Amino acid sequence: MTISEVASHSALPPTRAARTRHYAMTAPTHFAVEYAINPWMDTSTPVDAGLAWRQWENLRHIYLDLGHSVDLVAPEPGLPDMVYAANGGLLVGGHAIVARFAYPQRAGEADAYAAWMSSRGHQPVQTRHTNEGQGDLLVAGSKILAGHGFRTDPRAHDEIADITGLPVVGLELVDPRFYHLDTALTVLTDDVIAYYPPAFTDTARATLERLFPDAILVTSTDAFVLGLNAVSDGRHVVHPAAATGFAAQLSAAGFEPIGVDLSELLKGGGSVKCCTLEVHS
Ligand code: ARG
Repeated sequence: MTISEVASHSALPPTRAARTRHYAMTAPTHFAVEYAINPWMDTSTPVDAGLAWRQWENLRHIYLDLGHSVDLVAPEPGLPDMVYAANGGLLVGGHAIVARFAYPQRAGEADAYAAWMSSRGHQPVQTRHTNEGQGDLLVAGSKILAGHGFRTDPRAHDEIADITGLPVVGLELVDPRFYHLDTALTVLTDDVIAYYPPAFTDTARATLERLFPDAILVTSTDAFVLGLNAVSDGRHVVHPAAATGFAAQLSAAGFEPIGVDLSELLKGGGSVKCCTLEVHS
């Protein structure tokens, strides 16, 4: 064997490099499960507000300890799902696209996120069709992976391609428990992703297999604890702690998994990624 053959046959995972990230988060000051717009939400389950706060603060401190910056968006009364900041919009390449929510209960969040974008010097643009921000629109290198089927309207995908100038890859979701793309797929690096194949149509699976031949495929056990609702800086992957199988897969692939418990936020159908809006440069 030549040296390069030895290297390619070796069991050593690739070295993963972190890139400093810019995130935005919204404190769970008004978080509660007051309505049910996804199968994870049950209005009869009480939320421990103090615990929700501590879990959210722990997540924020993990990002800060990793050297990332975290902007704070002001939470507003009457908008209990605002804590899921990922849904507020998509910021990429200097473009700031504000969400247009599918359900009236969340519609008011759009103005709050637009105000935050303006305060950061962005000029928020709206889409005519429903888009739930980074819940369904995930930047992978120079592409945008875009979920549809439950929330974001595929017609918004074309609008987003026009606004950003980036190719938008539509991926149709089929299982209501995985109602946003970020519940079924994690972008780990510009060209490595992890996903749960049964959440997608056959066509979407074929697209993912073609674009990401080295993807990590997670099991139902990890998917059903919302394990894929994770945030990667290219090396460290902050993920729901219960997804232990996914953590082992990440380690084997050279990543550093960091498990966190967001049990209270899971009651609203969200976890790590839902609470984190990334500002992509
Ligand atoms: N209760 C919220 C909803 O149903 C949860 C949003 C979770 N966010 C996410 N990025 N998946 O809209």
